[in-house]
Amino acid sequence: MSTRVFIAFIIAAAVGFTALVVRGRSVDEAALQAEARGLIKDYGAALLGVLKSTLESSGPVEAIGFCNREAPALAATASQQSGWTVARTSLKPRNPNAAPDDFERRVMTEFVAQIAAGTPAASLHHAEIVEQNGARVFRYVQAIPTAELCLTCHGSALKPDVAAKILALYPADQATGFAPGQMRGAFTLSRKL
Ligand code: HEC
Repeated sequence: MSTRVFIAFIIAAAVGFTALVVRGRSVDEAALQAEARGLIKDYGAALLGVLKSTLESSGPVEAIGFCNREAPALAATASQQSGWTVARTSLKPRNPNAAPDDFERRVMTEFVAQIAAGTPAASLHHAEIVEQNGARVFRYVQAIPTAELCLTCHGSALKPDVAAKILALYPADQATGFAPGQMRGAFTLSRKL
């Protein structure tokens, strides 16, 4: 083997080996889960903070407008800043963009069964590495429980002006009729590995 061929062989072997290591690199799932939970904490707190202050200062009809404009915007900002995809989803969505994909539907259906069996909604989360379009993706879903505060806009007895405003913005709304403790939806986060 000439020196040149030998060097070429060594380089090819090194490149191949590096590619193997990168493909099979071990993923620190605990760290990813912790990062996802941190992002949810911040996004959730931001949403709840502004929702509460808008409800107090301007009432529910104004607050619906706030949710309509700001909830997707806050998710977009959280996504841009973190490099994750940060969103909310639901089996009964208000915003049609929040409709679940197959993975989210499967996970949330399982959550509903666990809640029916007595597990508190607030404790439910699921992490999984999945193949999506040839890429490995870390996905994290965390249930969002319904609280008393949510019933103004997601309960069974909406005030007429609240119901009218929701219908005007979301003609296909499915997100009413909830009771405290039920799962209103879920935070859904993903990141390419
Ligand atoms: C003032 C009315 C109002 C209140 C109170 C309210 N929401 Fe909502 N909620 C909305 C609106 C409007 C949307 C649609 C936002 C959008 O377009 O993304 C929404 C969307 C959501 C979504 C995203 C999925 C979907 O159905 O589109 C979740 C999850 C959710 N709300 C949970 C809650 C929870 C939990 C509470 C109580 C802590 C709550 N909401 C209180 C009005 C409200």
